[in-house]
Amino acid sequence: MNLIDAGIVENRQALPGHWHVHARGLMGSWLIWLRCPDIVREAKPGQFIMVRCGPETTLPRPFSIHRVDGDHLSLFYAVREGGRGTTWLAGQKAGASAPIFGPLGNGFAIDPKARNLLLVAGGTGIAPLYFLAEHAVKNKLKVTLLYGTVDKNRYPVPGVIEAVAATEDGSVGEKGLITDLLPRFVESADQVFACGPMPMLRDMFNRQRELKLEGRPVQISLEVRMGCGVGVCYGCTVKTKNGLKQVCQDGPIFDLNEILWDELGLCPGGS
Ligand SMILES: Cc1cc2nc3c(=O)[nH]c(=O)nc-3n(C[C@H](O)[C@H](O)[C@H](O)COP(=O)(O)OP(=O)(O)OC[C@H]3O[C@@H](n4cnc5c(N)ncnc54)[C@H](O)[C@@H]3O)c2cc1C
Ligand code: FES
Repeated sequence: MNLIDAGIVENRQALPGHWHVHARGLMGSWLIWLRCPDIVREAKPGQFIMVRCGPETTLPRPFSIHRVDGDHLSLFYAVREGGRGTTWLAGQKAGASAPIFGPLGNGFAIDPKARNLLLVAGGTGIAPLYFLAEHAVKNKLKVTLLYGTVDKNRYPVPGVIEAVAATEDGSVGEKGLITDLLPRFVESADQVFACGPMPMLRDMFNRQRELKLEGRPVQISLEVRMGCGVGVCYGCTVKTKNGLKQVCQDGPIFDLNEILWDELGLCPGGS
C-alpha cells in the first residue's frame, strides 16, 4: 500500500482543550481535513487510515475515517496526554501535508434488509459512526444516534440524524452512561453499531440481557494499539471465538459476541 502525502486543508480544535483532561487523560479533540482523492474513492464507513506522525514516532497511528467530502476526508481525534503522535498531528497547519495510507480494515456491514439503525457512540467513538450515519441517511435509512460524553462538549450532529445525548455529569441530556439508554431504543432497531472506549464495549457485552442486546446483531469498532496496520507485525492480534484475529485486517469491525472479552487484556493488542 502506497504512502501518500495528503495536503492538510484544515486542522482545528473541534472541542475545547479542557475536554476530558481530568476524567480521561485526553487533551481536547481535533478535526483535520486531508486531500486524498484515491483513498476517498475507496473509503467505506468503519475503515481507517494510518498516519505517519512525524520524526519522533516510528510506527504510524490508526484513525477512523470520520467524513468524506469530494476529494477530502476528515479525522476526528483526541490528543492523548503524552501522546507523541496525536500531539504532532494537532501541531500541523493547513498548507502542510501528512503522510498517510489506506483505506484499511473491513468496515461496517449494513444488512440490505435493515431499515432502522441504532448507533452508540462514546466520546471520540463518534468518529467512524458519523461516516456510517451520513452514508445511511443518504441511502434513506433511519438513524438514531445515542451519543455519550463526559460533559456538555459534544461534536455537533446534523439535524437529519435523531441524536439522544447522555453526559456523565448530566450537563446535557440524561445523566449517566449512554449504554443505559439502550433498552429504550434497541427494540425498534434492525442493527446496532457501536464505537467508544473499551470499558463501554465490554459493558455492552457483559450486560447484554439487561440492555436488551441479547440475540441482536451488534457490530463494534475495536480500537486496540496497532503497529503496522497491514497484517505484518501481529501487534493487534485479539482472541475471538473464531481463533486469533488481526484487528487491522480482519477488523476493526467485529460482532460484539465474537470477541473473547475476558482474554482481551491478555493479548498484545488489548487495552
Ligand atoms: C482502528 C482504529 C481507529 C481509531 N480511530 C480513532 C479516531 O478516529 N480518533 C481517535 O482519537 N483515536 C482513534 N484511534 C486511537 C488512536 O490510534 C490513538 O489515540 C493514537 O494512536 C495515539 O497515538 P499517540 O502517539 O498520540 O499516543 P501514544 O504515545 O501511543 O499513547 C499515549 C497514551 O494514550 C494511550 N492510548 C493510545 N492509544 C490508545 C487507545 N486506542 N485507547 C486508549 N488509550 C490509548 C496510551 O496508553 C498512552 O497512555 C483509533 C485506533 C484504532 C485501532
Ligand atoms: S497492526 Fe500489525 S498486524 Fe495488525
